[in-house]
Amino acid sequence: MRPKLVVGNWKMNGSRANNATLLAGIVEGLGQGKAQAAVCVPAPYLQQCADTLAGSELAWGAQDVSIHASGAYTGEVAASMLSDFGCRYVIVGHSERRAYHGETDQQVAQKAVAALNAGLTPIVCVGETLDQREAGQTNVVVNKQLSAVLELLDGAAVQRIVVAYEPVWAIGTGKTATPAMAQEVHAELRSQLRARSLDAGEKVAILYGGSMKPDNAAELMAQADIDGGLIGGAALKAADFLAIINAA
Ligand code: 13P
Repeated sequence: MRPKLVVGNWKMNGSRANNATLLAGIVEGLGQGKAQAAVCVPAPYLQQCADTLAGSELAWGAQDVSIHASGAYTGEVAASMLSDFGCRYVIVGHSERRAYHGETDQQVAQKAVAALNAGLTPIVCVGETLDQREAGQTNVVVNKQLSAVLELLDGAAVQRIVVAYEPVWAIGTGKTATPAMAQEVHAELRSQLRARSLDAGEKVAILYGGSMKPDNAAELMAQADIDGGLIGGAALKAADFLAIINAA
């Protein structure tokens, strides 16, 4: 059995005051449950996470990382810097970065490598647009996105990633993939991982993201290949985020 993992993606939300309340609420409500939990916050708040979450059950991480190790790359944040702030995770290839910053499959793959090299767990996001789904291209799209990453990693490294299936049409729209729709894509991704490394197929967590809420989380995470969630909006309220963690 793979342990369940629930990760909050705060996106570009937060303030020191609001974060303090939200983080305290989450930590206070975390039971000794089976699910692991983490928050991926804007980079300026990583120190606040390190200060308030050290020693707690809640892990933290970032939302993006540079492909470069250091140097003249204004505005970029290196993976080693994220490690320096105690991050365990970093999201790479979120659809918002692909759409608004033109990130390619190859760049996303390089980011995953940079994260692994710094001892971080990359959460590799894949997912199709509505047009791609309607054209019957869902599997082709997600297989291509994941294969760019798999090509750069050896079998042992593949086992250290997390994959997140986030259908673009379900993000922030209130439209969720049905459990059956999501499971179908998760099973496809798992067989792709298995083809690369049997162990990776068994070990790698595949999270679902896209309007996951307290009222649909249990049913989604009950699917055989859905190992947790990557949560946007509902991660900004402690009660909702905790309800999803408890549903895992
Ligand atoms: P929502 O949960 O707000 O749909 O966002 C999902 C997401 O993009 C998480 O990375």
